[in-house]
Amino acid sequence: MAILVLGGAGYIGSHTVYELIDAGREVVVADNLQTGFRAAVHPKAKFYQLDIRDKGALDTLFQAEEIEGVIHFAASSQVGESMSDPLKYYDNNLHGTMVLLQSMVEHGVDKIVFSSTAATYGEPERVPILESDKTLPTNCYGETKLSMEHMMGWVSQAHGLRYVALRYFNACGAHPSGAIGEAHDPETHLVPIILQVPNGKRDHVSIFGEDYPTKDGTCVRDYIHVTDLAQAHILALDYLLKGGENNVFNLGNGVGFTVKEVIDTARAVTGHPIPAQVAPRRAGDPAQLVASSQKAKDILGWKPKYDDLATIISTAWAWHKSHPNGFEEG
Ligand code: UFG
Repeated sequence: MAILVLGGAGYIGSHTVYELIDAGREVVVADNLQTGFRAAVHPKAKFYQLDIRDKGALDTLFQAEEIEGVIHFAASSQVGESMSDPLKYYDNNLHGTMVLLQSMVEHGVDKIVFSSTAATYGEPERVPILESDKTLPTNCYGETKLSMEHMMGWVSQAHGLRYVALRYFNACGAHPSGAIGEAHDPETHLVPIILQVPNGKRDHVSIFGEDYPTKDGTCVRDYIHVTDLAQAHILALDYLLKGGENNVFNLGNGVGFTVKEVIDTARAVTGHPIPAQVAPRRAGDPAQLVASSQKAKDILGWKPKYDDLATIISTAWAWHKSHPNGFEEG
């Protein structure tokens, strides 16, 4: 029996595939390679290039493979793009998940772990955020992820499928072996953007807003290492395989860092001065997002290994230094 990883050529998906294979699991990856990279797929995983909106292709896969559970990363994930092109998010994230669930129900595959996000909360009422706190997304990306959670709930009631939604905070870092890391085009995430400066790809980093109600005026986020996120998916899948009920878990370190603190840490890690310039606020950015992940620790037994931001950024730097063009050659 194999685990099907949809979006297994993307950033968090590819790291989860590496952890699954290290744990001795059989893995099938499906990805349309629109934002993922074939080179990020572990050589021991079986690979299908397909789009989850293609029901025929999914049906063929479920007929050909013995799948015991699905881990679903295949989605669009840029907050800014979701505001300028919301229908792309409804199509890829919601329609895609609808087609996937149709095919799973038809083929009797009834366990799914999937990527949700801190963006489901919107502007939090308090930090650290608990899973039971109000969900009121402030962007279309978060809205589609919250709707995906609801869709799973209704399909669960009707067809007995069970799901775990993992609400990630700020994923960063790279595989400790240096084999794979973070690569987006265009890049919008803070840590890889900062590291483009010592890599000679940009001359400074912009700080989006210095007038937030935080200790130094810049936004506070909870940065969590990608392999710790990957481990949580394996634990969540095992929880479902052991009969666990539908559930939602936050995944973060529970410690907030400001944008300026992240830049300072990257300066210390890289030994580069990394010039920074204050720029206007980016639309839709909440001032603070920090997770309580106590529930994942208590129920899943999750123990993040990387609780130190400098170590997390060091793993990212090792990857970016050796792969200045990401997975592209040259
Ligand atoms: N930032 C800058 N300069 C940059 C890039 C980012 O100052 O060049 C700031 C942002 O304004 C934000 C912080 O750095 O305050 C982190 O920004 P990221 O884009 O790295 O991450 P976000 O917190 O915006 O987004 C992440 C995930 C999303 C998810 C969101 C939940 O990438 O998928 O958390 O709010 F939806």
